[in-house]
Amino acid sequence: MYFGRQTDMQSIKSSHKSGVARSWRGHVVPFPVMCSVIVVCVGIVFIRPINAQQQQEETGLERIRSSDLIESLCNKTLYFDVCNSSLSAYPGADQAKRWEFARIAAELSRNDAQIVTDYILTLNATDPASCAALEDCVEVLDDMVDELNDCISLMADSNWTQRADDVKTWLSAALTYPYTCIEGFTDEDVDMDQNMKEKSEYLKKFTSNALAIASYLSDEESYKWIADF
Ligand SMILES: *[C@@H]1O[C@H](CO)[C@@H](O)[C@H](O)[C@H]1NC(C)=O
Ligand SMILES: *[C@@H]1O[C@H](CO)[C@@H](O)[C@H](O)[C@H]1NC(C)=O
Ligand SMILES: *[C@@H]1O[C@H](CO)[C@@H](O)[C@H](O)[C@H]1NC(C)=O
Ligand SMILES: *[C@@H]1O[C@H](CO)[C@@H](O)[C@H](O)[C@H]1NC(C)=O
Repeated sequence: MYFGRQTDMQSIKSSHKSGVARSWRGHVVPFPVMCSVIVVCVGIVFIRPINAQQQQEETGLERIRSSDLIESLCNKTLYFDVCNSSLSAYPGADQAKRWEFARIAAELSRNDAQIVTDYILTLNATDPASCAALEDCVEVLDDMVDELNDCISLMADSNWTQRADDVKTWLSAALTYPYTCIEGFTDEDVDMDQNMKEKSEYLKKFTSNALAIASYLSDEESYKWIADF
């Protein structure tokens, strides 16, 4: 038993040793391979930082370009600050193409109409006049969301400018809805609470901006089209 074990150990050790030796001999590294390994290593050290630097510069440029684009589009609206801050903050706006900003602006208006509706539904008006005005607003804003959704679907493609007249008509109609909502309070002779006033003002601004951007982009497009001929 004992001897047997020792023999086993020795044979394992010796086969291990010879294995190591063989593997050393088997892995004599030919010069061209060593050379290419060094080149690869050198490449990794030197190319990586250059790539990272290039990427950083490109993202930087991309960011500057998109903020320039947003500012120049918002320059065509009545409410520059609301436009610039909301478009800049919109997810994916930094990657968006020029023609997409009409859709994004309409989405901001649609989302805000929904926010105002959700807010109204949290209000606990007790007098019948306020209730009537708020109910009308909910109905009006519901129509507004539908209309904006149609418009947004139409603007999903870069060719939306071919139906610019429809887009402008729908956005102009959408812009009347916040006014209709506010008028409801005047008609019922009730005060609108301060939050509701502010929210309605924002909704007007978002919608007005969407109309201005869509008009500007589509006029620019038709101008280009004429210039091509
Ligand atoms: C915005 O418009 C003003 C006046 O028309 C112009 O001076 C300015 O350069 C414009 N800014 C952008 C970002 O287009
Ligand atoms: C537009 O918005 C961006 C992002 O919030 C901001 O950095 C920039 O200063 C704004 N431009 C102006 C002219 O206010
Ligand atoms: C309306 O009433 C609910 C429950 O009574 C309350 O939680 C909520 O804060 C109220 N909303 C407002 C805007 O006062
Ligand atoms: C834009 O093109 C798509 C597919 O090419 C088409 O389905 C859509 O109706 C077009 N939209 C407009 C506004 O022409």
